[in-house]
Amino acid sequence: MEKMCPFSLLILLALWIFGPNLVNGDAQQPASPPIFILGDSTADVGTNSYIPHCNATANFPHNGIDFVNSRPTGRFSNGLNSADHLARLFGYNSSPPPFLYLHSLKYGLQLGIYRGVNFASGGSGLLDDTGLKLNVLNLPQQINQFVTVRENLITALGHETTKALLAKSLFCITTGSNDIFVYFKTRSTMPKEEFINLLMEAYENHIKTLYSLGAQKFGIISVPPVGCCPANRLLNATRCFEPMNDFARYFHLAIDKLMCKLSSELQGMKYALGDSYKMTMDVIDNPRPFNFKNVDSACCGHGTLNAEGICNATANLCSDRKQYIFWDMFHPTHAAARLAANTLYGGPTLYVSPINFAQLAAEN
Ligand SMILES: *[C@@H]1O[C@H](CO)[C@@H](O)[C@H](O)[C@H]1NC(C)=O
Ligand SMILES: *[C@@H]1O[C@H](CO)[C@@H](O)[C@H](O)[C@H]1NC(C)=O
Ligand SMILES: *[C@@H]1O[C@H](CO)[C@@H](O)[C@H](O)[C@H]1NC(C)=O
Repeated sequence: MEKMCPFSLLILLALWIFGPNLVNGDAQQPASPPIFILGDSTADVGTNSYIPHCNATANFPHNGIDFVNSRPTGRFSNGLNSADHLARLFGYNSSPPPFLYLHSLKYGLQLGIYRGVNFASGGSGLLDDTGLKLNVLNLPQQINQFVTVRENLITALGHETTKALLAKSLFCITTGSNDIFVYFKTRSTMPKEEFINLLMEAYENHIKTLYSLGAQKFGIISVPPVGCCPANRLLNATRCFEPMNDFARYFHLAIDKLMCKLSSELQGMKYALGDSYKMTMDVIDNPRPFNFKNVDSACCGHGTLNAEGICNATANLCSDRKQYIFWDMFHPTHAAARLAANTLYGGPTLYVSPINFAQLAAEN
């Protein structure tokens, strides 16, 4: 049975449509581009909470402890994650909502499209099988959801307007870490070069698919120093686990080459590539100037470095959360994610190249 749309919900939906402009109240400001987000838990704003029997969720305390009303939102964070912080820099209040949330509302998809949609699903990777056992959404499934959004756009706006809207939209992708975790967890013997090439083949296919659907501006976030997250420090007596970091560095070299090649092949395609490895490692090596004190343990968790058990209601919880880089055994805190987003948005070519995310959005 259909229900009437409650009045408060209508206001909420109106805020999505007019979001940044209404909030800024400034007609001079250029409209913020729609942002479509794909990838893993570093950008998941609740997708996994909508998947039945999903084994990679965060919709319980202490997650969300610093969110409004200390509400767990499905984000693997004490507050916001990097997708939210990036969206804020573009004038929104937070990341666009998860596709699965919009899909559950009667007119959600039509209304969500003007600010974008978040498809990211924690535990997913570049390879279709990464996260399979956790019952998460892999990249082809996320792209299929985008196809649904695009069809709704075409129905509402027509082909030409949709094409123009998608061409100026930002497509942010953050993925690759979980593939590397699985590689080590399963003790794969595939040579590093071969494995990373496999990931690049997958990345190339996904980018070409999105491009064929109208995406032109890609904001790519490469793999951070995964060997330094608390869970993997346990593999080297609380120091960084170097074999994983070596894969992360190699991943960045490979994606740098791939994006350069694709931008010369695909007409009108533009990109910004964030070097998550370098930007994170520079903070881990020298945290003081960034106001961090703890770069090795998780703020929330169990056991050594709080990295032996997930962040849940009975976990240890640090009080000085702004001084921690890691929220739980794998994920950054609100503060660390904000620093990363600031660097992606406006940082120098040392960290984000050939242009940063702000310049990418401004391109014609
Ligand atoms: C998923 O969760 C169920 C119970 O919630 C557990 O029995 C199972 O081992 C988990 N699977 C994986 C792959 O973690
Ligand atoms: C363990 O940490 C030390 C000190 O940082 C480093 O030199 C060594 O390469 C690491 N070993 C592994 C296996 O990661
Ligand atoms: C929290 O996680 C710990 C460690 O994994 C586990 O032993 C405990 O049962 C969990 N508590 C709750 C409330 O889920």
